[in-house]
Amino acid sequence: MKIKVGVIFGGETVEHEVSIISAIQAINNMDRNKYDIIPIYIGKDRTWYTGKMLEDINIYKDMDLLKRYAKKVTLCKKDNTYFLVNTKGLFRKDVAELDVAFPIVHGINVEDGTLQGYLDTIGIPYVGSRVLGAALGQDKVVMKQVFAAEDIPVVPYTWFYDTEYYTSKEEIEKKIKKLGYPVIIKPANLGSSVGISIARTEDELEKSIEEAIEYDTKIVVEKVIENMTEVNCSVLGNYQSQQTGVLEEVMGADEFLSYQDKYLGGGKTKGSKGMASTNRVIPARISDDLTKEIKETSKKVFRALNLSGVCRIDYIIDKKNNKFYVNEPNTIPGSLSFYLWEPAGKPYNELLDDMINIAIKDFKNRSSKTYSFETNILSNCNGLKGSKGMKVN
Ligand SMILES: Nc1ncnc2c1ncn2[C@@H]1O[C@H](COP(=O)(O)OP(=O)(O)O)[C@@H](O)[C@H]1O
Ligand SMILES: [Mg+2]
Repeated sequence: MKIKVGVIFGGETVEHEVSIISAIQAINNMDRNKYDIIPIYIGKDRTWYTGKMLEDINIYKDMDLLKRYAKKVTLCKKDNTYFLVNTKGLFRKDVAELDVAFPIVHGINVEDGTLQGYLDTIGIPYVGSRVLGAALGQDKVVMKQVFAAEDIPVVPYTWFYDTEYYTSKEEIEKKIKKLGYPVIIKPANLGSSVGISIARTEDELEKSIEEAIEYDTKIVVEKVIENMTEVNCSVLGNYQSQQTGVLEEVMGADEFLSYQDKYLGGGKTKGSKGMASTNRVIPARISDDLTKEIKETSKKVFRALNLSGVCRIDYIIDKKNNKFYVNEPNTIPGSLSFYLWEPAGKPYNELLDDMINIAIKDFKNRSSKTYSFETNILSNCNGLKGSKGMKVN
């Protein structure tokens, strides 16, 4: 029997469109002999839709058309089975049954543990990291704090909240000065380089911080590694075992890799070509020793953050001394990093198989742990007043 896979994508995030591209790429590479694929699109207004037409990229050019023909749904559990239910009209109608959910989403409100938490409350098995890993992978400050505890190298940084900036500006500026200019200012929870800019001098700082504050309440400022190589490493596995793909070297056209470079093909090209348009060299042109060290560190990151499925760990290498720093993990990387597995001998369809298998195995493993009791301690309760030992609060 085929496994019914619900591929979930979109969401209210700056990486909405990137997610659509990643999801359709994955859908096109899943083995139809093994899987029934159910596309589930979360609109920017957070409404969930399903329907065959969502597998066609062209439908997203005309949202009115999409909304007219795709079915509005919610996810429900009924008698140990998961359903997408159409909520339109008087009667509830089951539209599709699911065995496993496959989130292919990027950025806040979805990739950061929110969607994962929702799927956990329903109880459906799902591909990829769970709530904690997904959340840690999103926050550029908390991840660094975890890395420090695990001796994983990160660039010198400082952080603050927007309100603190307005009340303790001088103090914050002092801390930033200590890092040494130029510095790079980032919203702590965004992605795709949105809201990120470099301040070369103290004069440029305010404008950069104001820009980042437009996107987030939490801001991180890092020392810029000026003469650097950017290298990414994909990891596949779960908490028990991990393997790494081939390293890529990312070439940005700008002084840092911008949204333009990543998705629009370097600035002048119109229309999104997806991740394939980024300039990259595979395998990365770094020594065997450094490659080995980065692969080992990537597994360490995967373990420290409690990740699962496929992720991509991004690095910055200081060319001056060959020292490397973890820049950030991507718990659901663009294109699921398939292009780093193909040269390692794993075609995209096999990568997807592995991810789904890990999800089902992890779910079975989790189900064997006790996290709920059959007994109902409220069954003998005569209202809250007289219940001894049931002090609420
Ligand atoms: N400390 C740094 N020094 C130099 N360049 C950096 C530094 N941090 C980030 N960059 C550049 O900025 C890009 C975007 O930063 P990143 O932290 O990866 O944000 P995002 O989550 O938006 O991808 C990186 O891909 C890299 O090119
Ligand atoms: Mg990045």
